[in-house]
Amino acid sequence: MSLLTWVDAYSIGNEEIDGHHKKLFDMFNILYESSGTTAGGSIVYSMLDELLYYADYHFKAEEQLMIEHNYVDTDMHMIRHSYFIDTVMGLRRSEGLGGDELAKETVKFLGNWLLLHVTKEDSKIAIYF
Ligand SMILES: [Fe+2]
Ligand SMILES: [Fe+2]
Repeated sequence: MSLLTWVDAYSIGNEEIDGHHKKLFDMFNILYESSGTTAGGSIVYSMLDELLYYADYHFKAEEQLMIEHNYVDTDMHMIRHSYFIDTVMGLRRSEGLGGDELAKETVKFLGNWLLLHVTKEDSKIAIYF
């Protein structure tokens, strides 16, 4: 069962960026659904690699749009994106945790961050479109 469900209220009024957010939700749900199972521990490392790659791609596109639309809080927003990348990289490198534990930690961080960031921070950009 999915934990993060996309609803139209999360739209920031840009189809490309909304598509990225939906994909990030999907990635989270795959990890959430497999965490606590044997699959969760084995896919978490490749999921984190995929997440780092895709989040970087998404953040660059979003930041470019903010710059183009003269979004007033771009610098602070970029710092929030960097925090995400640093945290996910830290999780990826945490050798001490087993796969199962790492999957649980990742689900905890990712679910909270993603939902809050999309609904509270990315949503502020909507009025600039
Ligand atoms: Fe963002
Ligand atoms: Fe975003």
